[in-house]
Amino acid sequence: MKIAVYPGSFDPVTNGHLDIIERTSKVFDKVIVSILLNSNKVPMFTVEERMDFLRQVTKKLNNVEIDCFSGLLVNYMKEKSATVIVKGLRAVSDFEYEFQMALVNNKLSPDIETLFMMTSSKYSYLSSSIVKEVGRLGGCLKELVPEEIIFEIIEKIRKTRG
Ligand code: PNS
Repeated sequence: MKIAVYPGSFDPVTNGHLDIIERTSKVFDKVIVSILLNSNKVPMFTVEERMDFLRQVTKKLNNVEIDCFSGLLVNYMKEKSATVIVKGLRAVSDFEYEFQMALVNNKLSPDIETLFMMTSSKYSYLSSSIVKEVGRLGGCLKELVPEEIIFEIIEKIRKTRG
């Protein structure tokens, strides 16, 4: 069974992430979408909220699992018997950092491969930070994040603003 892990912050999941998840789920037997705990970034959404969003938007994808991890990604991959890391690439600007991460992960664990999937062009401008910025400024989140989580995102942004 070929298992892939799609790691990230998902703060919150966007339509760009969902596009990568859907396409990856067609290539692998199982895809584990996993949120990094204790990242240096201060998230807007708690890990429970982020996992809940991911569960809602992937509920039709039977081979997709939602999880979280801490520590080295390669150690987590071994725990899960996963051999492929999936990352989305939106633009050349993503490449340098992702290339470095792929090389470090391969150095730490040569059996683990990183597979880069090009984001669909219609989502190439999209990121979780853009979603939070548009939401904060009262813009429309339709087409940026899946419909079923728009209300909860807006509510949280409103509460965070006080
Ligand atoms: O969505 P993000 O924030 O760009 O995701 C980054 C993530 C979670 C994929 C990356 O930070 C990661 O894999 N962290 C785990 C720690 C690790 O294994 N780092 C690589 C060796 S230093």
